Amino acid sequence: MNTVDYLRISLIDRCNFRCQYCLPEGEELDYVLQKDLLTQDELLILLKEVFIPVGFRKFRLTGGEPLLRPGVVRLVKAIADLPEIEDLSLTTNGFLLTELAQDLFDAGLRRINISLDSLDPDIFNQIIGNRGRDRWEKTWLGIQKAHQVGFDPLKLNIVIIPNVNDHEVEDLAALTLDKNWHIRFIEFMPIGNGDLFQKKAWIPSEELRQRILQKWGLVSSQVLGNGPADIFQIPGAKGTLGFISQMSECFCDRCNRMRLSADGWLRPCLLNETGQLDLKNALRNGVSMTQLKQQVSELLLLKPEINFKERDSGTQNGTYARTMSQIGG
Ligand code: GTP
Ligand code: 5AD
Ligand code: SF4
Repeated sequence: MNTVDYLRISLIDRCNFRCQYCLPEGEELDYVLQKDLLTQDELLILLKEVFIPVGFRKFRLTGGEPLLRPGVVRLVKAIADLPEIEDLSLTTNGFLLTELAQDLFDAGLRRINISLDSLDPDIFNQIIGNRGRDRWEKTWLGIQKAHQVGFDPLKLNIVIIPNVNDHEVEDLAALTLDKNWHIRFIEFMPIGNGDLFQKKAWIPSEELRQRILQKWGLVSSQVLGNGPADIFQIPGAKGTLGFISQMSECFCDRCNRMRLSADGWLRPCLLNETGQLDLKNALRNGVSMTQLKQQVSELLLLKPEINFKERDSGTQNGTYARTMSQIGG
C-alpha cells in the first residue's frame, strides 16, 4: 500500500487571478468567511499534534492564491521551523513574488511551483481573465525573482488548453535548455470550468512528449518532488520536463496525499469527499487530540478504497462543479 505522507494545505480560497480552466465564467464563488479560516495557531496545533504524529512529513501550501493569506511569511516560518518536516513547498500564480520571494526564502521555504500558462502576454491575460497586460510582466519578474533568491527546484506549471496555448509547448520546453527550471505540462481536467472543458477538451501528454522528442530527443530524468509528474529531460538541457497526466493515465493507485481546505476540512481525495473530516469545528468544539489522531488514522486506512471509487461519481455531465481553488489546488 502507498504511504500517504503528503498534505496539501490550502491557506485561503480567494485568488487574484480568474484562470479560465479553474473558475466558471461570470459566476461568483461562495468564499470562506474570515472567521471560518483555520487560524495560524489552529493550523500549527493540527500539524504538531495530529498530522506529524500520524506520519505526514511533506507539506505543500496552496490556495486559491496562498500569497494572499495575511501573515503568510510568518506562517511559512512557523511551519518551516518544525523539525520533523522533510519537505515544505508552495504553489502560487507568482504575481506577488516580486514582493514576497525574498521574505519567503528567508522564512525557510526552499522550493516553489509557479503557474505560467503562456509566454505571450495577450494569451496569458486571456487565460487568467484579462486583467491588464502588466499581469504577465509582473508574473515573469516574480519567477525571475524566485530564481535569483535561490528557490530550487523552481517548477513552472502549464495547463494545456487545446487551441489556446498548445502551440507554445516547444517554446515553453525550450526554457529548460539554458535555465535550471522545471516545466510541467498538465492535462486539462473537467474541474472548475466544465463548459470550457466541454468546448475545448484536453490533449494527452503523450502527444506533447512526441512533439518534444521529435524536435530535441528526450531522456528519462528526476527532480525533487512528491507529485504525480513523469519527468524527462532534453539531452543536455539544464532543467527538466514533467508531464502530469491525470486524464490519460489515472494515477490514483499511487496517490500519496490528502488535502486540508482553508476552512479546515480534511479531504482524502481531490475528486471524492467520502469520509472527509471537519477538523476546524472539531478543534473549536474541544475534541481531544487523541480522538483527532484516531479519526485521521481511520481515514488514512479508508483512503485506498476512496481513491479507487469511480472517478466520475461526483460529476455533473462528466465535469466537477467545485474548483481547484475551493478544494485547495
Ligand atoms: P511536487 O512535489 O513539486 O511534485 O508538487 P505537485 O506536482 O504535487 O504540486 P503542484 O501544486 O504543482 O500540482 C501540480 C498539478 O498536479 C496540480 O495543479 C493538479 O493539476 C495536479 N494534481 C496535484 N495533485 C493532484 C491529485 O491529487 N489528483 C489529480 N487528479 N491531480 C493532481
Ligand atoms: N485542470 C488542470 N489543472 C488545473 N488547475 C486548476 N484548475 C485545473 C484544471 N481544470 C491547476 C493549476 C495550478 C493549480 C492551482 O491547479 O494549474 O497549478
Ligand atoms: Fe488560476 Fe490558481 Fe487562481 Fe485558480 S487558484 S484562478 S488556477 S491562479
